Amino acid sequence: MWQSGNIKRFCICMGFMLGFCLAASAQRKTESFDNGWKFMLGDDSLARYAKYDDTKWRTLDLPHDWSIDGNFSDKNPTTQAEGGLPAGVGWYRKIFLLPVSSKGKLISVDFDGVYHNSKVFINGHYLGKRPNGYVSFSYTITPYLNFGNQKNVISVKVDNSDQPNSRWYSGSGIYRNVWLTTENRTHFTQWGTFITTPKIDVSSATIHINTKMIAGNGDLLKITIYDEIGKIVAEKIIPVTKVDDSIATDIIIKNPKLWSPEHPYLYRTSLRLLSENAAVDNYTVNTGIRSFVFDSKEGFSLNGIHMKIKGVCMHHDLGALGAAVNVSAIERQLKLLKDMGCNAIRTSHNPPAPEFLDLCDKMGFLVMDEAFDMWAKKKSKHDYHEDWAKWHEQDLKDQIFRDRNHPSVFIWSIGNEIREQFDSTGISIARELAKIVKDIDNTRPVTSALSESDPKKNFIYQSGALDLVGLNYHTEVYSDFLKNYPNQKFIATETTSALETRGFYDTPTDTTRHWPQGSKIPFTQGNKQFAVTAYDNVAAYWGATHEATWKIIKKYDFLSGLFVWTGFDYIGEPTPYPWPARSSYFGIIDIAGFPKDVYYMYQSEWTNKPVLHLLPHWNWNAGQTIDVWAYYSQADEVELYLNGKSLGIKRKQGDDLHVSWPIRFESGILKIVSRKNGRIVLTKEIHTAGAPAKIILSADKRILQANGKDLSFIKVSVLDKDGNIVPDAENLIKFSIEGHASIAGVDNGSQSSMERFKADHRKAFHGLCLLIVQSGKRKGNIIVNSQSVGLAGNSITLSAIN
Ligand code: GAL
Repeated sequence: MWQSGNIKRFCICMGFMLGFCLAASAQRKTESFDNGWKFMLGDDSLARYAKYDDTKWRTLDLPHDWSIDGNFSDKNPTTQAEGGLPAGVGWYRKIFLLPVSSKGKLISVDFDGVYHNSKVFINGHYLGKRPNGYVSFSYTITPYLNFGNQKNVISVKVDNSDQPNSRWYSGSGIYRNVWLTTENRTHFTQWGTFITTPKIDVSSATIHINTKMIAGNGDLLKITIYDEIGKIVAEKIIPVTKVDDSIATDIIIKNPKLWSPEHPYLYRTSLRLLSENAAVDNYTVNTGIRSFVFDSKEGFSLNGIHMKIKGVCMHHDLGALGAAVNVSAIERQLKLLKDMGCNAIRTSHNPPAPEFLDLCDKMGFLVMDEAFDMWAKKKSKHDYHEDWAKWHEQDLKDQIFRDRNHPSVFIWSIGNEIREQFDSTGISIARELAKIVKDIDNTRPVTSALSESDPKKNFIYQSGALDLVGLNYHTEVYSDFLKNYPNQKFIATETTSALETRGFYDTPTDTTRHWPQGSKIPFTQGNKQFAVTAYDNVAAYWGATHEATWKIIKKYDFLSGLFVWTGFDYIGEPTPYPWPARSSYFGIIDIAGFPKDVYYMYQSEWTNKPVLHLLPHWNWNAGQTIDVWAYYSQADEVELYLNGKSLGIKRKQGDDLHVSWPIRFESGILKIVSRKNGRIVLTKEIHTAGAPAKIILSADKRILQANGKDLSFIKVSVLDKDGNIVPDAENLIKFSIEGHASIAGVDNGSQSSMERFKADHRKAFHGLCLLIVQSGKRKGNIIVNSQSVGLAGNSITLSAIN
């Protein structure tokens, strides 16, 4: 059975150690199968065979994305849409031993995701292929295994050479985790357990458990529910009466603690199969007790309380780490979003890594789990439409089975801007897909992200299969939604597509500009920096600014919420620029994880924290008129001062989300003060910076786990002699590391830099760059040094612990 990261992994020991580990327990084991693989970029069909000589191949640990190791080039067939990184074919092989005691057990290899067209072989036997790069799949390898001292070889071919096949960066390879599962003949079946909470009130909650198993007469099913501190809150034992059984039962929890984004309380449900009084299998999963309703008039409520869905869309890449899954990196992204007040994520446009959903359960995010970016009609030449006919049913089923126990998942999306919405095939396919979902899980609504907003012209809408009408963009029709879609429930599945580059400013800012030209007020001709102003006044012509979008969603209760395109910049789709632009401009946060200014607009609207943020920087030419903007909250007014002189008090009027002043530039100190009832709440200053003088490193985490995977994200700032950030600094910074750790990547948030993500140096971009340090497997101090010609260097000490 597949188990996600929230399940305790009893031991992680690979290769030759494996024998000892498996022999020690009678129950199922799900162990990491990530370490010690061989990899070759290129094709050799003989690599499937056990005796193949792979000694010259590179040794690596998974998850692995070979594209991110490559050079950017507009010659790569992936095209600019995928960031211009290389793809191609790669092979992975791993040798492993199994103990004699595992003979007679069921053994499987479980892949969380391989991009894409994988073919898997065990000891030369072909196990199968999986075209979809985002679904999880597993193969039972029991019949082909050797035990004792005889080696086993698993070989995986990954073919991402059919380019272009994506509208964004996909990465290439076994980019998610792999597990080895060993279980008894008596076991819970893979993804066969479904836990729901059909009845919740203040004094009790009913937990409904439906579980499938291969077991026999006389076996027992023991269900135990633990609270967050490990105390048993409910327990039940049920006899199994027939072979191949499926048991459905209810368990009551008294005085339940509810799950919500603010308080993501998780119980743990443990299922054990007992045979002759010994546990022969177990399945443990986090359970969140929550209920929600979408209402056509009231919008969304969770646990009986009305709330807005304040969501963002996210692609799966992790910036400089590419697609290779890393829990610390996902956690950092989610922390930044949480701090902004975001409470929901749309996994555009594919199922995410299981660890992502585990984190959303734990940290408190609602998730719209999306299946497809296309159905039978293509968007790129070799995309999934080629596999649609044969695979869509299986892929969708596997997604729903895998993800349905996550409390965070609250909407299933069967597709994004699907071309079939424009013709009648949209009707039958939408119905088919919604039925597949509903047959497996009827506790969550089904939607599809529609770009055709006219109900009469939209065949997916007309199928009647959607529980929620998901509209992408088209804010102009939102206020009339209930007129056009009587009694329907609304969600803005995708909005905004505003464009910004962190740290780059164009003034004046009193017009909203759209891209491309020809649509309303033209976007700038472009500039040689390939940058877009960070004032929130430029958007793609199908979108709108952040402020304009949020104002509408905020205004009407029946608009249950939105998913802003996007939370972070991502590799690929660099609208509006040609090459060498190679990553997107849509993020609220740049690709290195540095917030753009508009982050603070959301924070001021989406949280209860007092916020005060001032933009732009204060290094301009004397006499130039500069628009100064401020976002604030938890205050009645703000007052701006230049070199000690007041430039006036401002208060947001009507539905304003920021205040602004046109100011004649004069170097010095720009200061802003926010006040409530006459008392100062916050003060912020921006100083005109001098020449770059020094580097300062600051780490998001100083203590790392010595597990070879943990990461510290180190922000590298270029400062003048007085400690002010230098807004146009581009100094080249070189890094070195002492101790057991390595550089996992470098970045600076530039959307058009051709510098490699895997390097020991990086140029600053608008005064900042990022170094990602990865722990080794030994504990001890890690000293991170930085230096740059003409600047005082800086070091920081991290420590790795067990
Ligand atoms: C949408 C699409 C997204 C992305 C976005 C860019 O139409 O669904 O995947 O391409 O446009 O603005």
